[in-house]
Amino acid sequence: MEAFYLEIRHVHIASVLTSGALLLLRGLAFNLFGARWVLAAPLRYLSWTVDTVLLTAALMLTTIIRQYPFADGWLTVKVVLLVPYILLGYFALRAQRRKTRLLSLAGAALVFGYIYTVARAHHPLGFLA
Ligand code: HEM
Repeated sequence: MEAFYLEIRHVHIASVLTSGALLLLRGLAFNLFGARWVLAAPLRYLSWTVDTVLLTAALMLTTIIRQYPFADGWLTVKVVLLVPYILLGYFALRAQRRKTRLLSLAGAALVFGYIYTVARAHHPLGFLA
């Protein structure tokens, strides 16, 4: 698997960017323009597939670089923050009130951005380090 480190890293980063872009576009289209098609099954399945690829590639990378969540701080932060990212993303499209949906979307974007800086810095404090 080590031989494919660069390819797997590219797949991880590409799925990370696709996941963030999909959530942002769906969230904005739904909450600003009332576009109900963003909730259609094909787009939901696409989102789940992208997130599954993201996580699979992430787990492969941890094995290759021999650094693991709950052993290495920056990876612990990434895994822990993945939970609010997914939950806020869900509420951004599914909450009853528009205000809750918009706040959730903003929260998901902030969490995503922070995880990104943690990844780049290889440090739990991310851009604060
Ligand atoms: C929304 C969630 C995530 C984002 C935004 C994200 C972002 C990134 C980015 C930008 C990189 C490249 C870092 C660099 O330039 O060295 C990266 C690498 C990596 N990510 Fe993620 N990631 C996410 C989720 C995860 C999760 C949940 C894990 C752990 C299970 C993980 C494990 C890794 C590993 C091991 C690398 C390779 C680092 C290296 O090559 O040294 N990522 N991630």
